[in-house]
Amino acid sequence: MLAARDQALHDVAMMQGGTSSDGQDFAAKQAKIAAEFNAWAPTYESGRLAPWYQMHAREVFKHLDLSGARRVLDIGCGTGWALRQLAKQHHAIEFIGIDLAPDMIAMAKELASAENLANLAFFEADWEEVGQAIADASHAEIKPGFDCILALSSLHYVADINTALASIRDSLYAGGSLVLVERDTRSSILTNIWGALHKFVIRDGVEFIDTEELLEMMRSTGFEPVSVLSSKQQFMRHGKLFTSVAVVKGVLPGGNAEPS
Ligand SMILES: C[S@@+](CC[C@H](N)C(=O)[O-])C[C@H]1O[C@@H](n2cnc3c(N)ncnc32)[C@H](O)[C@@H]1O
Repeated sequence: MLAARDQALHDVAMMQGGTSSDGQDFAAKQAKIAAEFNAWAPTYESGRLAPWYQMHAREVFKHLDLSGARRVLDIGCGTGWALRQLAKQHHAIEFIGIDLAPDMIAMAKELASAENLANLAFFEADWEEVGQAIADASHAEIKPGFDCILALSSLHYVADINTALASIRDSLYAGGSLVLVERDTRSSILTNIWGALHKFVIRDGVEFIDTEELLEMMRSTGFEPVSVLSSKQQFMRHGKLFTSVAVVKGVLPGGNAEPS
């Protein structure tokens, strides 16, 4: 798995050479992310890191209240493991997952279809490119009006977090919530080392977001209250050392039934 992933990273890094404008840099960054996760897709739910991401999702489930929810969106859903668990528990809710990596979405569709989950749909889409179109109801397939938007370990791939947060806000019903899993940068040395590896070795544009700054960005986008629902610093599971994780939630004020 790692060999294929490394090869994909290498290939895209080669393609990346000599980019000059922001547009080209952005396209190269997105291509690199897509290549990384396309290569990972076949083993994403069986590889060494699967328990790690599933543990993050379980941490979210502990705090997620979907009572009364009609529609839930997962941005950067990967192969859809988290959404499949939720769709099996909440038959009346429509779940939608989007991801920019085509092979992650193909795998998500295959796995959901093997479980006959009718309340779950997946679309290949880059939130940075289509988020505002979805919010403005001008996207052909995905309509706005979500009670909850999830982004599990995906927001740190986004180049412009403030813009992404704004289109998330505009896609939610008033009173809706955004629930994120991110690395908790507060006092986790391992997380900061891992962040440096992304920046200087893997060079995939990933920068872990400072937790306090993230809360502030969410507040200034209009989410209030915002809170850290759960935080684990460096911790051991099955004899392995993991970096930190924070479950962060922001709620949009108001209680109307229409998108904000
Ligand atoms: C670390 S994986 C997490 C997948 C899944 N949420 C999980 O918790 O296992 C990050 C995912 O975000 C996706 N992603 C990154 N940037 C994205 C964007 N701008 N729009 C949609 N998906 C994105 C990647 O393709 C990848 O599948």
